[in-house]
Amino acid sequence: KLTVGLVGWRGMVGSVLMQRMQEENDFDLFEAVYFTTSQAGQAGPDGQPLQSATDLDALKKLDVILTCQGGDYTTEVYGPLRAAGWQGYWIDAASSLRMDDDSIVVLDPVNRKVIDSGLQKGMKAFIGGNCTVSLMLMSLGGLFDKGLIEWMTSMTYQAASGSGAQHMRELLNQMGGLRDTVATELADPASAILDIDRKVAAAMRSKDFPTDKFGVPLAGSLIPYIDSQLDNKQSREEWKGYAETNKVLGLSNNPIPIDGLCVRVGAMRCHSQAFTIKLKQDVPLDEIHDLLDAHNDWVKVIPNEREASIHELGPTAVTGTLSVPVGRLRKMNMGSEYLSAFSVGDQLLWGAAEPLRRMLRILLE
Ligand code: HSE
Repeated sequence: KLTVGLVGWRGMVGSVLMQRMQEENDFDLFEAVYFTTSQAGQAGPDGQPLQSATDLDALKKLDVILTCQGGDYTTEVYGPLRAAGWQGYWIDAASSLRMDDDSIVVLDPVNRKVIDSGLQKGMKAFIGGNCTVSLMLMSLGGLFDKGLIEWMTSMTYQAASGSGAQHMRELLNQMGGLRDTVATELADPASAILDIDRKVAAAMRSKDFPTDKFGVPLAGSLIPYIDSQLDNKQSREEWKGYAETNKVLGLSNNPIPIDGLCVRVGAMRCHSQAFTIKLKQDVPLDEIHDLLDAHNDWVKVIPNEREASIHELGPTAVTGTLSVPVGRLRKMNMGSEYLSAFSVGDQLLWGAAEPLRRMLRILLE
């Protein structure tokens, strides 16, 4: 059995990963060694003492390292570990190594061929993709697979979880704070809505409103910028939509133009996206349905009808599940080669943990 070192298994993505690995009995297939950045020596989940995640000698003994510890840890440890001669497989949730020539971005239902050819070439670093990119590819895989996309835009509605666990807590505190501000008025059906609205707006603008994490109110509002600012005025999240998608697909030398605008909304852990897709040819809608639906076991086409869309194509229906519904499919006013679509997916499952555990499975096969 291969020996697999687990790093960052206690954080939010790590916890989702551990739970999924238990559900799928992955632990039966390898020897797990648990690492920590702060509590070396304390008992781990298997009763054994936790090992230090910065102890290169301990890490060098592993066949595989699976980390959800974050980019700073990767930057600190990966280079020195390779320099020390370690030849094992590195599976990582963080973005630090994603664009390296020596790494593959993993999403096997979409790019199993790219993964297999990387393995054959001796590649040893397998990195989970950006959540928005992975969820977009899971939902539109059928169109990418058939090479039908000439260009596309993705306009996103991203959940608080993409920023981290503390941000989810802050969102809920903001929501509760707003409600508390007007609790008396809400209890009185005769109270005036514009008075309520004025009080809510004042609370959101007050310096006491909890915004340490997001920097601005998200509850009752939105944030039209995700991740850092690049020199070309894209946000880094928007840049990833282009650069990473093409890397996942192995198209970096002949990339598909993809761009968009990434927005944070008050959802908990589901990212949603609205797409405008320029098809290379006029493909009939029923064929598009079939292509999308058949691409993988998790995508599900939702009929473009109001009731189905509001009940099945939103974060409430999807959160905590591996389902990636795609709907609102229709040809747009611009012409029959222009397709509109909307998809939703759990940012912590297919957006983060699931591609990593499946990559480990591929190594264990
Ligand atoms: N960058 C994403 C977000 C999460 O902020 O929603 C991780 O891929």
